[in-house]
Parts: sequence; C-alpha cells; structure tokens
Amino acid sequence: MKVLITGGAGFIGANFVHSTVEAYPNADVTVLDKLTYAGNPDSIKGLDRVELVVGDIADPDTVDPLVAQSDLVVNFAAESHNDNSLKDPSPFIRTNIEGTFQLLEACRRHGTRFHHISTDEVYGDLAIGEDRKFEPGDPYIPSSPYSSSKGASDLLVRAWVRSFGVEATISNCSNNYGPFQHIEKFIPRTITNLIDGVRPRVYGTGEQVRDWIHVRDHNTAVWDIINKGRIGETYLIGANGEKNNLEVTQMILQEFGREPSDFDHVNDRPGHDQRYAIDNSKLVIETGWEPEFKNFAAGLHDTVEWYKANEPWWRAQKETVEAKYAKSGQ
Ligand code: NAD
Ligand code: DAU
Repeated sequence: MKVLITGGAGFIGANFVHSTVEAYPNADVTVLDKLTYAGNPDSIKGLDRVELVVGDIADPDTVDPLVAQSDLVVNFAAESHNDNSLKDPSPFIRTNIEGTFQLLEACRRHGTRFHHISTDEVYGDLAIGEDRKFEPGDPYIPSSPYSSSKGASDLLVRAWVRSFGVEATISNCSNNYGPFQHIEKFIPRTITNLIDGVRPRVYGTGEQVRDWIHVRDHNTAVWDIINKGRIGETYLIGANGEKNNLEVTQMILQEFGREPSDFDHVNDRPGHDQRYAIDNSKLVIETGWEPEFKNFAAGLHDTVEWYKANEPWWRAQKETVEAKYAKSGQ
C-alpha cells in the first residue's frame, strides 16, 4: 500500500506518519509537506519506509505524480492557527481551499482514495453550559478565516464525491494535544512558558471550553474511518474531553508545582469561539472506535514530560512566537 500523507511534518500528520509505520508494515509512506513555519522534518526523521517530498499541495505539477503513484491520500496539510488567520488570511485561502482543490482534482484523474482531515470549528461554536454537542449534519457556520477556509475545503470534498465519484471521506476533530504540537498553540505554549519560568497567558475570561483529545486517538479514528467508513460520509472525532481554558491552565500549573492563580489574563481573541463539543456516536457505532487516552490529566502529564525532554525540538521557535503574541497584547 502506498500512502501519501500531506502535512506529515506538522503536529497531527507527523504523529500519523509514526503510527502508520508502526501499525501497517506493508505501507510505504510519502510525505508531501511545504515545511512552513509549522512543519519540522525532525518530527519524522529516521523512520523506515518514509520519504519526504518538500512541496506545496496547491501546486498541481507537484501533486499530480505523487497522487498517481498512491493508493490513498490523507490530507493533513493546512494553515491551522486561528490567531494567524486573523492577522493574514491569505495563506489559509491558498493552502486550505486551493490546495484541497488540487488534491481532489488529482484524485479524480487517478481514481485515488482520499481522506480529508478537518475540524469541528466548521460548525461555529456552542454556548457554554448548553446541553448540546456538534453532530455531523449540523449547519456550517464558521467564525474565523481559518475555520471558514476549512469549511470551504470540506464542501469541495462533498461536491467532488457527488459530482465526480471521488472516493472520499471527511473527519472533523476537536482540539488535539500531545507530542510534536507547535508551541504557538495553547497547551504547548503554556508548558514552554512554564519551562521558561514565564506566567501562562489566558485569553479573556478563560471560560471558553475545548473538547480535548489525544493526537494518537485522533489518528486511530482516522484509520478506522479509512478502513470502515462509508464513502461520502462525514465523521466527527472527539473523546468527551471538555475542559475550560482556566482548568487546563491550572492543571499545567500544578504539573510545575505553581499556584493556581499564577497566570495572566491577556487580550481576548476577536470572535473567540466559546465552546466546542463533539457527539462521536456515528464514529463509534459505525467503526467501533474507542479512545485509548481516557485520562486527560495523565495524557497532559506525558505531554509536559515530552516538552521537557525535547527542548531542542521547540527552542528555536520560542522567541519568534512570543514576539508575535506580544504585538497583539497576548
Ligand atoms: P500544523 O500547523 O501543525 O501542521 C500543518 C502542516 O502542513 C505543516 O507541516 C506545514 O508545513 C504543512 N503545510 C502547510 N501548508 C502547506 C502546503 N501548502 N503544502 C504542503 N504542506 C503544507 O497543523 P495540525 O495541527 O497538525 O493540523 C493538521 C490538520 O488537522 C489541519 O487540517 C487542521 O485543520 C486539522 N485539525 C487540527 C486540530 C488541532 O487541534 N491541531 C484539530 C482538528 C483538526
Ligand atoms: O477545535 C479544533 C481546532 O483546535 C483546530 O481546528 C485548530 O487547528 C487548533 O489550533 C485548535 O484551535 P483553537 O483555536 O481552539 O486552539 P488554540 O490552541 O489556538 O487555543 C485553544 C484555546 O486557548 C482557545 O480558546 C484560545 C485559548 N488560548 C490560546 C493561546 C495560544 C489562550 O487562552 N492562551 C493562549 O496563549
């Protein structure tokens, strides 16, 4: 089996490359990654049966021959950070929309199976305390340039299935945590701040809720959808891990033996989504998927240990990331 993993040098993609090599000894993996600021080839260094091609999913000349030689394409490549999309949306439009379009066109030409990685953010947000979770058939009402570009990419996938018979599935997952996550994101930013003795920054009130899932659980669900999911269907991936940002901050503070109040409230994110929560029943019923990491505190502890043990992996980025946040008072 030849698998093309786009964005395989990023957070979730790199974890997917590792787990694919472990779980599928018959798989040859090609990673197509542009190596933007978010891609790190060290995350997949030294793996057997993995070839890295540095290139852009929005470039049809790069994409076509790679898709032609593949049995399966799994598309993780994206601009993925909401805060960046609020400052400059243009790479989000090119990569997330144009890039998905080029991959779909190549899959159409070569009859290649496609799995599209997307986000729960396409559904907008829920009210804090509301007795409801996102369901696969909910309307798309994204809030940010990032989430709207992901929503657009999902709609392209749906249209290419229906109009052209492309064999594709879509998964929309909640917030991931675990090794290899870029330190611009909330959990690794908070951990690396504390390693540096800096107080964590909480946007606004910190009452916003995210539905946390370990990246390895996201990726086992993706393989279950590829193996057992129905073509044309959308599956929501989540592991019932709702926590608000204050709770997460305080759990990380506890890991470092700091006081629960040892953080600063900073400027809020414009248009900040209040709550995400996933109803995963379609995924569970149709594929039998189950998360392995059911204890968030234990998964978070391992993640803290990973960032402590892998400082060379993230250190070079820290100053630039913090300088960018300082400009927006965050
Ligand atoms: P990331 O930012 O860590 O990694 C993205 C990767 O894509 C990087 O390696 C980058 O170099 C590469 N890339 C960017 N533009 C490219 C292009 N034009 N051509 C080729 N490669 C390109 O992102 P992530 O957090 O790993 O997210 C991966 C996917 O999962 C995204 O589609 C994201 O929307 C989705 N998702 C993320 C989360 C989360 O919590 N991080 C949750 C749900 C869904
Ligand atoms: O829900 C899935 C989405 O989860 C993915 O589609 C995105 O790619 C991924 O980045 C993530 O989006 P969020 O915007 O929820 O993640 P982020 O890590 O940026 O922020 C998580 C929460 O923490 C959010 O409410 C903003 C807040 N925050 C973030 C940072 C960086 C802080 O309070 N302080 C911070 O320093």
